[in-house]
Amino acid sequence: MNHQDIEFPRTQQQRIFELIETIDQGASNPKRIADCVMRLSSYYAENPLGKTPWNESWCQIAYLAYYYPMNWWRMVVAIQRSKNNGHFSNFEQLVDFGSGLGSTSFAFDFMGIDFPQGDIFIESSKIAIELHQKLVGSNARHSIWSQDSRKLNIDRPTLATFSYSLTELSQIPDWVQQCQGLLILEPATRDDGRKLMQLRRDLLPHGWSAVAPCTHQEPCPLLELTERDWCHDRVFWKQPDWLAKIEDNMPIKNGTLPFSYLFLVRNELAFQGPGTNHGRMTGDLQDFKGYSKQLFCRGKDREFVSWQHKIFGKKMQGITRGSLVKYRIGIESKGNEIRPESNDDIKAIE
Ligand SMILES: C[S@@+](CC[C@H](N)C(=O)[O-])C[C@H]1O[C@@H](n2cnc3c(N)ncnc32)[C@H](O)[C@@H]1O
Repeated sequence: MNHQDIEFPRTQQQRIFELIETIDQGASNPKRIADCVMRLSSYYAENPLGKTPWNESWCQIAYLAYYYPMNWWRMVVAIQRSKNNGHFSNFEQLVDFGSGLGSTSFAFDFMGIDFPQGDIFIESSKIAIELHQKLVGSNARHSIWSQDSRKLNIDRPTLATFSYSLTELSQIPDWVQQCQGLLILEPATRDDGRKLMQLRRDLLPHGWSAVAPCTHQEPCPLLELTERDWCHDRVFWKQPDWLAKIEDNMPIKNGTLPFSYLFLVRNELAFQGPGTNHGRMTGDLQDFKGYSKQLFCRGKDREFVSWQHKIFGKKMQGITRGSLVKYRIGIESKGNEIRPESNDDIKAIE
């Protein structure tokens, strides 16, 4: 799926605007929404560990029209990056922690991934729960909401998800250890990204295997070999007009949607993971005279794929930041550079 082709469902966009009108009549115009977004954005900047202030109408409006659809886009791409190995069919239920308005489960619906025993949403805000329920309407049949995850009993294969919610917690809750899968989406900041890489380092020795973005179980090169790098991805999206009109009234412009993510599964499920000649493009394209290079991850070393323009052109066909890549075993490499010489040397899998 090309990210440019991912469209936020129109019926959901209409529902969002109808809901905004019930919160504050006349507020569903781009300027009013943009003011709310700027307010919430300043709140998050001033309170990086603070709770989302759901009791404020400007927060509800900003979340509905802006953060909810954008977190949905990010999650759709994170699911696409993670689904290659068919792991999602192993889970009978979803537990979405800090579910907010439900962007995560809506992304799974959009990707056609269903959890037969339904979804459990853990959300401390009653206001967010009510808005979420209004957004899903009659589709809420297989869903349960709870404001407190301490009562959670995991007795079937479960995928735990955290989208922009781990950042509001001091540590990962204990019940996660009873789950079979863990998918986390976090802001693409250096602090949040490095915390996620540290979480991977902490969990791997305790029965978990990394599936995405990592294609290996070795130490993370960006965590161990650098102090300033952090692993993050980027959605190259086609912003819909209704979101562009909101951003026309704001100094922020989301040309691309960056995010950090991590998908882990229990070791007993991990045999389905990619083979040893797989890696992930983890950096942006860097252009030089006659050649380009891009940060690439396939193990404990910090490496680049570097290619000649005369063979491949400036951009490697079909391979962008975040792509899962298969390379030929024995591919030429020199120092920290992997050097493909023909199309048979390197291919995007998704
Ligand atoms: C930034 S929002 C993310 C919402 C949604 N997951 C998304 O991606 O759009 C974080 C959510 O976590 C919820 N939250 C924070 N701490 C929580 C806790 N201890 N238990 C349940 N929910 C919590 C907040 O109320 C908020 O709705």
